[in-house]
Amino acid sequence: MKVDVLIGLQWGDEGKGKIVDMLAPKYDVIARFQGGPNAGHTLEFDGLKHVLHTIPSGIFHPQQMNIIGNGVVIDPIIFAKEIKALLNLNVAVRNNLQISRKAHLILPTHRILDAASEASKGSNKIGSTLKGIGPTYMDKTGRNGLRVGDIEASDFKNRYKALTDKHKQMLGFYNHAYDIEQLEAAWFEGVELLKTFTLIDSEYSMDKYLNQGKKILAEGAQGSLLDIDFGSYPFVTSSNTITAGTCTGLGIAPSRIGEVFGIFKAYCTRVGSGPFPTELNDETGENMRVKGNEFGSTTGRPRRTGWLDLPALRYAIMLNGVTQLCMMKSDVLSGFDQLKVCTAYDVDGQIIKHIPFDVIHANMQPVYETLPGWQDDLTSITQAGQLPQALQHYIQFIENELKVPVKIVSVGPNRLQTMWR
Ligand code: GDP
Ligand code: IMO
Ligand code: MG
Repeated sequence: MKVDVLIGLQWGDEGKGKIVDMLAPKYDVIARFQGGPNAGHTLEFDGLKHVLHTIPSGIFHPQQMNIIGNGVVIDPIIFAKEIKALLNLNVAVRNNLQISRKAHLILPTHRILDAASEASKGSNKIGSTLKGIGPTYMDKTGRNGLRVGDIEASDFKNRYKALTDKHKQMLGFYNHAYDIEQLEAAWFEGVELLKTFTLIDSEYSMDKYLNQGKKILAEGAQGSLLDIDFGSYPFVTSSNTITAGTCTGLGIAPSRIGEVFGIFKAYCTRVGSGPFPTELNDETGENMRVKGNEFGSTTGRPRRTGWLDLPALRYAIMLNGVTQLCMMKSDVLSGFDQLKVCTAYDVDGQIIKHIPFDVIHANMQPVYETLPGWQDDLTSITQAGQLPQALQHYIQFIENELKVPVKIVSVGPNRLQTMWR
């Protein structure tokens, strides 16, 4: 058996949560492998709308095991809130959620350091979700971090204090005012709750499941263009968001990766700072934002909007080894007379189809192909054959450019508003 992976191909918020939830019944195990509560994965079904941050999007399926892998960073405060919200919905989380002992902990001071670092950057800020992601991964790679498994150690509180003291010194450097007491109380409550869950070594669990013939779906967070190595650095997150992250974030050998689902919106959005060549700062962009309800699932910030960017998608497909595509939010494009799709960039008169190294400073002007739009309401269509001709043409154009089939088309936020091609 192999591990299938679902990866966001743009700047996050492509609709990963919805598709993981929809695919979950085909799998035995759903596993998150990187990121943390900077993620907001929205699920809608049976009149319920739910946003998950740390917990995998298979949690509403009682038969599926959900795993938080070693590559994830966990804030016990946010984790506790998520668990409470699920228990209120009568989801039996204790039966189908396991957590890697090697996952790193986000401390209250990591969150404060994130805010202090962003404030110090002024207009060059990353636009972080301020969940402490960057500082936590810095402590992980700097070999200072605290891991979930450490909460069982007798000297855990001393280790917490030593790291927090160090952070407080760093906060002195930033001259950043903060109040930690309330956060700290909630944090230790969250730690106590974490202790009541089944803690695992995810690398051994994955190996066991695969050897038993179980099917695993790895759920990416963020998007490929926010990857620490391949995104628009420094306007990125602090983890490897691409397929390779599955191997390090769960302990899976590369040879065990199977299908790679690449998920993208029929247009583009980005929340936070950084380059966005096809961005629309006009009425069309505003239309997309309103129709697509493009406001962050984690922070509520308005998302920047723009036309579909094929060179960026091609780059993401190359990095991830995508075998099938899922096109989301097709319904949001209904009502536009014409649609533009970026097929290349004009950089000072030179036409290129790759992402240049200095993506921050390069003057990348999109080269557009204009395609006919469609006016039909798509939200109750259930068969791909019933999609309007102009949309079928839009999809074929994308497939032709990207050389990967679009297998799933989504026409609304609900689990059921999805069709296979
Ligand atoms: P994720 O982070 O990739 O899981 O995506 P988010 O949940 O942050 O953002 C996607 C948003 O679009 C959520 O509000 C979803 O409910 C919504 N959504 C997902 N698919 C569709 C779709 O096909 N059409 C529309 N209109 N909304 C969708
Ligand atoms: P999901 O999983 C969209 C963005 C932030 C910021 C940058 C760094 O829901 O798709 P960080 O908090 O990681 O230090 O922020 O990355 N970002 C996301 N944008 N969706 C996400 O997650 C994101 N997680 C982080 O807006 O620009
Ligand atoms: Mg999201």
